[in-house]
Amino acid sequence: MKKILVTGGLVFIGSHTVVELQKNGFEVIIIDDLSNTTINVLDGITEITKIQPKFVKLDLKNKQAVQTFFKNHKVDGVIHFAASKAVGESVHKPLKYYENNIGTLVYLLQEMEANKVTNIIFSSSCTVYGQADTLPITEKAPIKPAESPYGRTKQMAEEILADVSKVSNLNVIALRYFNPVGGHESAIIGELPIGVPQNLIPYVTQTAAGIRACLSVFGDDYDTPDGTAVRDYIHVVDLAKAHIVAMKRLLENKNKTKIEFFNIGTGQGSSVLDVINTFEKVNNVKLNYKIVARREGDITAAYADTTLANTELGWKSELTLEDAMRSAWLWQQKLIKK
Ligand code: WQD
Repeated sequence: MKKILVTGGLVFIGSHTVVELQKNGFEVIIIDDLSNTTINVLDGITEITKIQPKFVKLDLKNKQAVQTFFKNHKVDGVIHFAASKAVGESVHKPLKYYENNIGTLVYLLQEMEANKVTNIIFSSSCTVYGQADTLPITEKAPIKPAESPYGRTKQMAEEILADVSKVSNLNVIALRYFNPVGGHESAIIGELPIGVPQNLIPYVTQTAAGIRACLSVFGDDYDTPDGTAVRDYIHVVDLAKAHIVAMKRLLENKNKTKIEFFNIGTGQGSSVLDVINTFEKVNNVKLNYKIVARREGDITAAYADTTLANTELGWKSELTLEDAMRSAWLWQQKLIKK
């Protein structure tokens, strides 16, 4: 049984990926520092799969701890989620982002090399494209100057991985996520925002639940069909499955180059109002929202050209925005009951 290390495996995308790894017969070991999640997520994963993943509470900023981990655990591959991801916060705390997203990656890669671990799937983001000139966005779209330190850390991380793969046995697949949304159908795991949600969907579900009084729609004067910004909302379970396909590709030596990039989205653009209308329709709830000024740093539109992921990687999204809005609401209702 192949053993996979999942860093950040108790956070939103990581936890859903651990479930899919276990469903596919992988042994999983999770590293998480619990800075952006709770240990209850481990119980949630176990409740879904009936297999308790091994868990090591570890801060990847502690180089010694990373060295000790790899001395004590032999793994066949790594899926690296652990990073800070709040775009706005990164503007005010750049050093936190460079230390947490870049420093930790260097320690991880050093110990992977020292212990002959040669396969890594990296959690990248469509943020690397900025506002693309052409839509849908292909992997050949130019990498534009990032709008935030967060986005810059994703671009830098891809460069670091490319540089290391050139001079070592490291094989890399960087998955460039569009906007991950929704939750597991069981509503046992989902998106756990800590504090005031920065992302759209948690704010939508908390508004519907009465936790937030009103959703602010950041601008309706964009050059889009209804004036609100367009994104590619990918169901987190489809996104998790992409990691399994990618890891298998590396383990079976099917990758064609030492580092590969794939856009992971639905290929479908949805506006903020599309999301609101869909959420209201599938859940039969009324959302209280108002149009306000644009949020600084937001781009007008982004949605993926998924041809490469579909044809080369052999992955395609299957779940819809409706599925995502339904599961997000079920999860929010479960959270309220906790
Ligand atoms: C989506 C749309 C907002 C909140 C960021 C990162 C990306 C990834 C996902 C980590 C935008 C609008 C939002 C609200 C709103 N993060 N919005 N009211 O900014 O597309 O992407 O999060 O990997 O890397 O860049 O996602 O969910 O913040 O916003 O109107 O209260 O919803 O303006 O158009 P974003 P988001």
